[in-house]
Amino acid sequence: MTIAIDVHLPADQATAMEQDVREGLARVPKELSPKYFYDERGSQLFEDITELEEYYPTRRERQILVERSAEIVAAAGNPATLIELGSGSASKTRHLLDAMRDAGTLRAYVPVDISEEITRETATALVEEYPGLDVHGLVCDFEAHLERTPTTSEAGARLIAFLGGTIGNLYPDERAAFLCRIAALLDPGDHLLLGTDLVKDVDRLELAYDDPGGVTAEFNKNVLCVLNRELGGDFDPDAFAHVARWDAEHEWIDIGLRSLADQDVRLEALDLTVDYAAGEVMRTEISTKFTRPRLEESYAGTGLKMADWFTDPAGDYALSLAQLA
Ligand code: AVJ
Repeated sequence: MTIAIDVHLPADQATAMEQDVREGLARVPKELSPKYFYDERGSQLFEDITELEEYYPTRRERQILVERSAEIVAAAGNPATLIELGSGSASKTRHLLDAMRDAGTLRAYVPVDISEEITRETATALVEEYPGLDVHGLVCDFEAHLERTPTTSEAGARLIAFLGGTIGNLYPDERAAFLCRIAALLDPGDHLLLGTDLVKDVDRLELAYDDPGGVTAEFNKNVLCVLNRELGGDFDPDAFAHVARWDAEHEWIDIGLRSLADQDVRLEALDLTVDYAAGEVMRTEISTKFTRPRLEESYAGTGLKMADWFTDPAGDYALSLAQLA
C-alpha cells in the first residue's frame, strides 16, 4: 500500500482566468467557461442540483454503476488500475473499485482532480477502505495537463473513467481533441469509460436545467459572484435571469444569463468595462446530450472506437466503453 500525490498547478492560474474571461466577453455572443462555476459555493450548489428530483443524470449514472460495475469491469478486461478524471470525493468510483477488487485484479487507483484538498482526502480514505491499494493522485487541470497522467502501470490493463457527463460541456471540436489525447494515453487492452447524458423528451431536459425551485439559476448566477471576487467585478446577479433551452440542431442544452436591462459592468482586474443590452444572453455552459450513433461518431477519427455501451433501464444515461480503434 502506498500513497503519492503529485501537484502540477501552474503558478499563473489567475492570469489564465483573466485571459480566458477577457476573450469570452469579447465574443459575440458573449460567453464564459463553465469551469468557473465551481468555487466552494458553486460546488455546493452543484451538489444540491444532483439531489433535485428534476436532475436525473447523477442518479442514473450511479444506478448503472451499482447494477453493472461487474459487467463493465469484465468488459474492460479486468483492469488493475483505475484512473479517474475529475475524481472529487470518488463516491461513484467505489462501485468500480469494488468490482475490480471482487475480480481479484485491483492494484492501483489514480485520482486526477483540480482540488488538492479533495484529492488528499480521497486518497487517504481509499487506502484505508481497500487494503493493499496503491493510490497515486494527480492534482492538475486535466484539460490542460492530461499527459501528466501516468501512462504505464506496473502490470495489468488500465481503465480511465470520466464520469458525470462533463464531456457534454465541450464543443464538438474540443471533444474530439480531448478524446484524441485520451487515445494517446491508452495502450492496447486499456479502456476509457465515459459518462454521457442521452437525448430525451425536451420538457424533461429543460426541467433538469431549470428547476422550479431555482437551484440551477443560483448555480448559474454564482459564476458572476466568482468574477466579482476573482476579477474585481461589479456584476449584480439580480440584473440577470437564468436561461436553459434545448437546441435541437446541436443537441445540447444552451445555458446562459440574460441581461434584464442595458447595463455596464466593470472588471477591475481586466481594466475592462463590458456593456450588456437588455435581453442579451451571455452563454455560460452547453450540456450536450447523446444518442448511441452520435457517440460512435464522436469517437470516429479520434483513435478510439466504442467497445460497449451500458444504460439504465429507462435509457436516460449511458456509460460507454471505448478502446483503441
Ligand atoms: C457537471 C457538467 C455534468 O451539464 O449536467 C448541471 C453541470 N449545469 N446543471 C451538466 C450542470 C447545470 C452538469 N455537469
